[in-house]
Amino acid sequence: MKFLVTGATGYIGRNLTRKLVDLGNDVCVIVRPGSDTSFLKGLAPSVRLATYSGSISELQTILAEFAPDVVFHLASYFKADHITSDVVPMIEANVLFGAQLLESMRVAGVNKIVCASTAWEHFEDSDFDPVCLYAATKKAFEDILTFYAQARGLSAVILKIFECFGPDDPRRKIFSLLTDLSSQNAAPLGMTAGQQRLHCVYIDDIVAAFIAAGDDLLKIEQSGVQTFALSSDRPVSLRELVADFEAVVGRSLPIIWGERPYRQREVMEPWSKGVRLPGWVPKVSLRAGIAKLIKNQD
Ligand SMILES: NC(=O)c1ccc[n+]([C@@H]2O[C@H](COP(=O)([O-])OP(=O)(O)OC[C@H]3O[C@@H](n4cnc5c(N)ncnc54)[C@H](OP(=O)(O)O)[C@@H]3O)[C@@H](O)[C@H]2O)c1
Repeated sequence: MKFLVTGATGYIGRNLTRKLVDLGNDVCVIVRPGSDTSFLKGLAPSVRLATYSGSISELQTILAEFAPDVVFHLASYFKADHITSDVVPMIEANVLFGAQLLESMRVAGVNKIVCASTAWEHFEDSDFDPVCLYAATKKAFEDILTFYAQARGLSAVILKIFECFGPDDPRRKIFSLLTDLSSQNAAPLGMTAGQQRLHCVYIDDIVAAFIAAGDDLLKIEQSGVQTFALSSDRPVSLRELVADFEAVVGRSLPIIWGERPYRQREVMEPWSKGVRLPGWVPKVSLRAGIAKLIKNQD
């Protein structure tokens, strides 16, 4: 099959791209002029690179020439707490690019898309209360997606991700902090009281969900948007997560609990009302995932 991937240089996108190639598919990735495409070197010739520098005509050409069976849309600009200079790049990445992509799909007659989204659209288990501007922009794109589904025949699946983790993750998030803290002479780090609970899902399981959602879309003809949650079997508190980390590495991590305040809109309990993608269950347990992550680090 032919798949187009946006955000393919990102953490989930590069793992998805690799898996799609391993499965024997023809893959086209949309990159920007400054994107680091080094990870794609080993994947040629199964992966075509298409450059997007902001214009819709570039996307229309890419969509028309490659004519993918399914688009995987993962490109995004993430900041948990934005500052003023984040507003324009965030809207460009999370809203404008996506709208241009959908319009280009319509023109090219491409009508199946799987989109990455976030459980952070649901602060305090609400139907919609964005935790931060990033989550608000993800929802803005989804409203545009709904128009293309209802009025222009698009079939879409939105996968709402909680916390994805795994080896070689360049993002400075909780798992990379804990990995650093698990090294021999790590300096102590102040954290919050650690009672916030998280759904942590291993990268291979996230990738499997995207592939399953793409396969499902290929089987259906009707238009519409379906939304699913990629939750783990059980959310864990940050303290429990650290305890699991400590059990795997065999030493305690130098954390000073309670030294930092919670964020203004800290997600203490993850969204619980989402329906899991049918037929998908995460296979890698938290401890097994941490062990893979640590092993890869050594
Ligand atoms: N990772 C998680 O735990 C998590 C949690 C919730 C939701 N998600 C969602 O899952 C998706 C993938 O997340 P990730 O963590 O793998 O992302 P990531 O590592 O931050 O990568 C972001 C990707 O988006 C591309 N991008 C950024 N701005 C763009 C723009 N203006 N135009 C085109 N491409 C642009 C980047 O390309 P360049 O290389 O050119 O910068 C990169 O490929 C995102 O949609 C995110 O919202 C992830």
